[in-house]
Amino acid sequence: MKKAQVLILDYGSQYTQLLSRKVRELNIYNEVLSFETTAEELKEYKDLKGIILSGGPSSVYEEDSYGIDQEIFNLNVPILGVCYGMQLIAEKFGGKVENADAKEFGKAQLHFDNFENKLFEGLNDHKNVWMSHADHLTKIPNGFIQLAHSDSSIAAIANIEREIYAIQFHAEVTHSEEGMQMLQNFVFKICNAQKDWNMNSFIEHQVEEIKNIVKNEEVILGLSGGVDSSVAAALISKAIGKQLTCIFVDTGLLRKNEAKKVMENYTKLFDLNIKLIDASQRFYSALKGISEPEEKRKIIGREFVNVFNDEARKMQKAKFLAQGTIYPDVIESSSKGHSSKTIKSHHNVGGLPEDLKFELLEPLRTLFKDEVREVGRKLGLDNSIVNRHPFPGPGLGVRVIGEVEKEKADILREVDDIFITKLEQHNLYDKVSQAFATILPVKTVGVMGDNRTYDYVVALRSVNTIDFMTATSTHLPWEFLDEVVNEIINKVEGVNRVVYDITSKPPGTIEWE
Ligand code: XMP
Repeated sequence: MKKAQVLILDYGSQYTQLLSRKVRELNIYNEVLSFETTAEELKEYKDLKGIILSGGPSSVYEEDSYGIDQEIFNLNVPILGVCYGMQLIAEKFGGKVENADAKEFGKAQLHFDNFENKLFEGLNDHKNVWMSHADHLTKIPNGFIQLAHSDSSIAAIANIEREIYAIQFHAEVTHSEEGMQMLQNFVFKICNAQKDWNMNSFIEHQVEEIKNIVKNEEVILGLSGGVDSSVAAALISKAIGKQLTCIFVDTGLLRKNEAKKVMENYTKLFDLNIKLIDASQRFYSALKGISEPEEKRKIIGREFVNVFNDEARKMQKAKFLAQGTIYPDVIESSSKGHSSKTIKSHHNVGGLPEDLKFELLEPLRTLFKDEVREVGRKLGLDNSIVNRHPFPGPGLGVRVIGEVEKEKADILREVDDIFITKLEQHNLYDKVSQAFATILPVKTVGVMGDNRTYDYVVALRSVNTIDFMTATSTHLPWEFLDEVVNEIINKVEGVNRVVYDITSKPPGTIEWE
């Protein structure tokens, strides 16, 4: 039987994951499904208490726009439409949606027209909400009433009897004041969902499930030192101890002392087998002469698979391959609502060869990153692992800009270590989402003492973001940056210039490649 009290149908909004996460924060397990899901398929969810239709980039009046199985409205399950979801509901019930002269992007004030509805219970009038739409409702559908408006649009409607609610704004975004209260009202007061989700029960349940699936067999897992694979390893080792073997590949593209730290941490914390494979030479040779980022990613991914396979082959008895796949990876690869284009291929590991037949074990595939961190903490993982900034699979391979050479990677390791250590010393590390350094393939002129220098430029980058889809550069204190730059120039040979990247995403990406 499929579980989930709340389901979100995805129409491709950049906020769909956030919506799902916010409902999880209310201790309600929910899943994101494609907008093409039929009413028949929804019936498999026996505990279903509510459906949310997400936002999306298209217009409901366009031909080929994303629709909905009309039968879903007859399931007698409360529905909340958000942005595109609202417009879709309006259209399906005889309302009218048109392109607006006054488009609303950003904050708008919400004015209530109706106070007697469960969605607004306990809320205050005239609060700011987050709008992001070019279309708006010009005719309210039959059977619906207007609940609220903004200065330029109808902002909320409902068919109270049928429990269909629709809002033009994004309640899930933090800029929407009391947005969380609205979601809470929908989930608890309208849907009558019961809290069913917390990380203690998740761990208990997963440990049992892993034992049942694995029985006496062996499991291998590729450890990266990042949060996801670490937590997966901790959870699996809690269930099956030494039946788990972790393989940690030193690609030569790791941070300073990373291999050593990972090995120390894991052997200290867990009852598992762990193997360190030093494959750095192999990676440097494969990357020789290559400077195009996507090509570098492919080569690194391919080499990683090769090294991992060589090791896996030695483990004749392993039946399962464990991976730290998390929910955003699952949503992004499966949801048809997602119309975003590939900007960078983030697939770190390509497919395994046909003859290596493992069954996949992915115990974190229902969790968001913050939930993964909480599970990690509950399992006793070090803060240094749990609170770690993301580190891309190709590692320094995409931070040595252009051709990857050991000399540059070595310089970068030192620079990165100084930057990160200083952030930690100044209690800034946990306040920023991701910080790192890159080394550029250019040399510039400088002067040190009485001598002319001709050395590399490095760039520091620090961003703040909730979902890594958009980000802003961190306003690090000038004095702090000064201190970091001084230390880099004084201690790292080969660098004579440091720049700080203040580009936001978009238009920049977080990594430089
Ligand atoms: P971008 O650079 O796309 O990065 O703005 C968004 C987030 O993804 C990380 N990133 C990667 N992670 N393999 C990964 O596992 C990759 O090839 C890759 N490229 C970027 C990046 O560090 C940031 O957290």
